[in-house]
Amino acid sequence: MGSNCLNIGVIMLLLLLPSTVNAQYSVIDVTKYGAKSNGDLTQPLTNAWKDACAAGKPTRVFVPKTTYYLGAVTLKGPCKGPVELQVQGTIKAPADPMKLKDAWVVIQSVDRFILSGSGTFDGQGQTAWGLNNCLKTSACGPFATNLRFNYVTNSQIRDIKSLNSKFFHMLVFGCKNLKIQQVTISAPGNSFNTDGIHIGRSSGINIAGANIGTGDDCVSIGDGSQDITITKVNCGPGHGISIGSLGKYTNEQPVNGIKVISCTFNNAMNGVRIKTFPASPSSGTANQLYFEDIVMNNVGNPIIIDQEYCPYRNCKAQTPSKVKISNVSFKNIRGSSATADAVKLTCSKSIPCQNVQLQNINLSYKGSGQAKSTCKNVKPSFSGTQNPPPCKA
Ligand SMILES: *[C@@H]1O[C@H](CO)[C@@H](O)[C@H](O)[C@H]1NC(C)=O
Ligand SMILES: *[C@@H]1O[C@H](CO)[C@@H](O)[C@H](O)[C@H]1NC(C)=O
Repeated sequence: MGSNCLNIGVIMLLLLLPSTVNAQYSVIDVTKYGAKSNGDLTQPLTNAWKDACAAGKPTRVFVPKTTYYLGAVTLKGPCKGPVELQVQGTIKAPADPMKLKDAWVVIQSVDRFILSGSGTFDGQGQTAWGLNNCLKTSACGPFATNLRFNYVTNSQIRDIKSLNSKFFHMLVFGCKNLKIQQVTISAPGNSFNTDGIHIGRSSGINIAGANIGTGDDCVSIGDGSQDITITKVNCGPGHGISIGSLGKYTNEQPVNGIKVISCTFNNAMNGVRIKTFPASPSSGTANQLYFEDIVMNNVGNPIIIDQEYCPYRNCKAQTPSKVKISNVSFKNIRGSSATADAVKLTCSKSIPCQNVQLQNINLSYKGSGQAKSTCKNVKPSFSGTQNPPPCKA
């Protein structure tokens, strides 16, 4: 009797285990909410999300493989249980940039969210880029970011593609513990401000295995970013993987603990970069920044710290940056530089960079002359191979 009870208890536990350990998702298909091939997905997706979010058990919103049009949507939490959005189709944004504000698809205040599937978010940004050249015109963007994640926690984004965004492809803001895996991001090399993934005020963000080619930074890391790891990312075309720009605004929060490991850059304008504006309105810090095991193929400035970053006219370039950069390591970085400036470290005159290390650097320059290393307001420490030869500080 007693042992029977125990057996039944064990059997019940075994039956329960699969559903608790490997949560089974109920599926909500957007076609049941009126989604049609070449139709408007806005209302079906919004309604399917609302039901999934209220379900109180793991629920997947499924977008089958075909083409849809979608206006601006905000898919909001908090939700009563985990929600997955699985996109197998191609979803197109309005081509007219004026039909969207600063974001196209927003996921907001959701815990345990998954965005998955082999589908594509097509921002149709071609018109916006022509209007968004801030270097030449004062009436410029910002236009809509394709995918914006606000205050999303303990979540995953995997496999999906982001194409031709009007502005940033993905913006991660106020997020904690987010894994971004195997995503593909693509826009032409001359499309303005189409950063691949921009991270701000977030912690525990892990980007792995992405293919990113855009007209701006492949990944950019803004103020308040902590504990960010970027591995196995292919970048190019694009402006590289950047920490910054920092020092443009007041009340910027510290950047701390950034690792860029096992990444490859192909024909990018920069490789690994730290950039801060001169004449920062307030002080800031960027600390514990590691770049390791990186291959550069024909990259403009493979290793660069630029504290005199001034992409627009009218920077007060003579007033030094107040952002303090410290504990930086560049290790095992090899390949080819497209310019002679293979290593260029320009730090702030008022707050020189502290503890910058270069170890096993092997960057050749294929043009005429020698690859060179230049240093301003920094005394790096060198170890292992150094090609170009160490700068004379
Ligand atoms: C730099 O790193 C050292 C050792 O890891 C640490 O003691 C120091 O506090 C760091 N510097 C800053 C500004 O955090
Ligand atoms: C540096 O790279 C070149 C090829 O670009 C290679 O031939 C050479 O052996 C490398 N040097 C070291 C010390 O690794």
